[in-house]
Amino acid sequence: MLRTEGLNVFYDELQALIEVSIEVHAEDLLVIIGSNGAGKTTLLRTISGLLRPREGKIFFQGEAIEEEPTDRICMRGIVQVPEGRKLFPQMTVRENLEMGAYLSTARGTLADRFQGVFQIFSVLEERLKQFAGTLSGGEQQMLAIGRALMAGPRLLMLDEPTLGLSPKVASEIYAILAKLHQGGMSLLLVSQDVLQALRIASRAYVIENGRVIMENSGQELLRNPKVKEAYLGI
Ligand SMILES: Nc1ncnc2c1ncn2[C@@H]1O[C@H](COP(=O)(O)OP(=O)(O)OP(=O)(O)O)[C@@H](O)[C@H]1O
Ligand SMILES: [Mg+2]
Repeated sequence: MLRTEGLNVFYDELQALIEVSIEVHAEDLLVIIGSNGAGKTTLLRTISGLLRPREGKIFFQGEAIEEEPTDRICMRGIVQVPEGRKLFPQMTVRENLEMGAYLSTARGTLADRFQGVFQIFSVLEERLKQFAGTLSGGEQQMLAIGRALMAGPRLLMLDEPTLGLSPKVASEIYAILAKLHQGGMSLLLVSQDVLQALRIASRAYVIENGRVIMENSGQELLRNPKVKEAYLGI
């Protein structure tokens, strides 16, 4: 579904991604783990078109997209839930959800999409008129995911969706991601919550200092001694 080939991405002279090649297969729940500053957010922002690779290619469903503008990439169905949620706090839950549908093409009516989101996050239906800024942290993350779902994603990318949430709420979010995956959606998840993320992953990559250093199934990486030591503290 998505393939990057030899991505080299820089911030001025600092090289943040070095020859990064990854693949997301249809119906993967692909997880990317790595420490602070490894390059995870940079990779997602490059795929979304927010950053341009100095070298390398990005193919989505067989077509090169690395030179396309972000709105075009979004219309193709690559939708990102950004780090820190980036909601519109002074707008209602309904308005935030509508913003998600704004760019997307005719994959179902607006009403159908609202229903799809409410089936997954019933709490959002109860709070449609509430300002987003007054929601709890967990609810805000649900709204951020709901907003992305309103765009009818083919590939849903999430950057640290459980950062700052309680373990209980984080578990709920992971369960929802697993459910979306079981429903046939392709997901690309960046997470520092390595244990929970690898448990639901179909495949995963480890990034260190801008390079992919390991690739395997989630289960295999959970058993890998280096992953255990470096990321699980075992
Ligand atoms: N806007 C920027 N300008 C300059 N350097 C940046 C910028 N954003 C990130 N970097 C650098 O690029 C490298 C990769 O950062 P990135 O944010 O992609 O890491 P990350 O894996 O998402 O980290 P974290 O887990 O802390 O979110 C880091 O060395 C970081 O300091
Ligand atoms: Mg990051």
